[in-house]
This record gives sequence, C-alpha cells and structure tokens, in this order.
Amino acid sequence: MTFSELEEEIVELDRLNMAANFVAANSVFEPSIRLERLRREIANGAKLLGVRRDARLVAYLEYVPPVDGRFYVPSLQIHPQYKGTSILRPLLAQAAACIKTWPTATLRTRVHASNEKSIRLHQKLGFSRVPSLDGRVHFEVSSAALYETLKGYCATLSLPPNSSYMDSPTTAEGGFAAVCCGPVTFTLDVIRSDKQ
Ligand SMILES: CC(C)(COP(=O)(O)OP(=O)(O)OC[C@H]1O[C@@H](n2cnc3c(N)ncnc32)[C@H](O)[C@@H]1OP(=O)(O)O)[C@@H](O)C(=O)NCCC(=O)NCCS
Repeated sequence: MTFSELEEEIVELDRLNMAANFVAANSVFEPSIRLERLRREIANGAKLLGVRRDARLVAYLEYVPPVDGRFYVPSLQIHPQYKGTSILRPLLAQAAACIKTWPTATLRTRVHASNEKSIRLHQKLGFSRVPSLDGRVHFEVSSAALYETLKGYCATLSLPPNSSYMDSPTTAEGGFAAVCCGPVTFTLDVIRSDKQ
C-alpha cells in the first residue's frame, strides 16, 4: 500500500465519522480539504498510528510529537463498525510506545461538549479538565501518567513475542506505524517488560 492510499483511507474514515457533524452544522465534509490539511499536518511533523482488519484501516491516531514539552492528538478515529469493540487497545498500545519516549511531556486535547464518548474516554484515561474559554472541553494529562494508564489498559493484548508493528502489518493485532517516532520498530515487549 502506498502512503497516498493510506491518506485516502484516513480521509474516508474521517468522512464516515464526521460527515453527519458537518451536516448538523449546516456544512459539508469536503474530502479534498481534509486531504490537503492532513498532508500539510504530516509535512509539519504529524505522525500516524493505525490498526488494520481484513486489509482495511479501522482505527487511526494522528499525533504531533512534543514541541516545548507539549504534544497533541489532532485526530483519533474508529471505524463505525468497530466502535465499542476494544480496537482502541492495539492502537493505544502503539501510542504508549511513543509516549514512553517522552517522559516529561504533557498532552493537551480539546473536545466538543456534545462528544460524550470522547469525554468518557478522556476520563477513563485519567485526563484532567482544564479551564477553557472557547466552549469546548479542554483536557490535560502528563505523559508519565498517561503511559501508566495505557500500560494497564493495553495489558490484555496478546501479540506474539517480538512481533513488530513496523515490520509486520499482519500481526495478530494488525497494527502499523506508518510514520512513527522516526525509524523505530515497536514491539509489545516494550510494554510487557514495564508491566512486570
Ligand atoms: C471516541 C472514540 C474514539 C471511542 O472509541 P470506541 O471504540 O467507540 O470506544 P468506547 O466508547 O466503546 O470505549 C472505549 C473504552 O473505554 C471504556 N469506557 C467507555 N466508557 C466508559 C466509562 N463510562 N467508564 C469506564 N470505561 C469506559 C470502554 O470499556 C472501552 O474499553 P474496552 O476496550 O474495554 O472496550 C470513537 O467513538 C470515535 O472514533 N468517535 C468519533 C471520532 C471522535 O470523537 N474522536 C475523538 C476521540 S478523543
């Protein structure tokens, strides 16, 4: 699969999840605009993590590694058919491997007040609400605290030992790290060894 095909899968997943929100706001989700923005974000340093099932992208997370101690997650999307199926676990296991390398950073996020699922997920992952002036719910968590929570949340994964997200997109959990933390090969051992 080419990188441009991956970008198109991401835009399609966004469309599936977001189109109704745009309609509710009297607007239209325009794939070409999202594609252009995604490409600009990647050119500016954003990275991608994802999970595939049956050769299809079913979950992805876009993040911007720390700058001045802060990192961001511009997008986290689960395919509608996979919501509520724990597909987040293999995705967040990859995120944990990245976060582990940023022990002193802080993650800040912004959520629409109507996005109850996202708010619940933030609470489950140990984020604290911080004051905001833009009508959205703002959250913050230290990478050390988030990593500890993710270790527990992802502990039930059963990847074969030494399976590599980067080299083996067809591992049991079907993970990939399209552009992640530089030329790093993640293995679940990273997470397992810390669990003990
Ligand atoms: C928000 C989103 C990523 C959540 O993914 P999901 O698969 O629907 O996740 P769920 O709501 O089923 O719950 C995720 C986990 O939190 C747990 N959880 C959910 N609500 C909970 C609660 N109130 N208390 C404790 N745990 C809770 C679930 O048990 C689940 O863990 P699991 O692995 O045991 O199933 C997904 O709905 C999505 O893609 N939404 C559209 C895009 C979006 O809003 N993105 C912003 C995300 S921050």
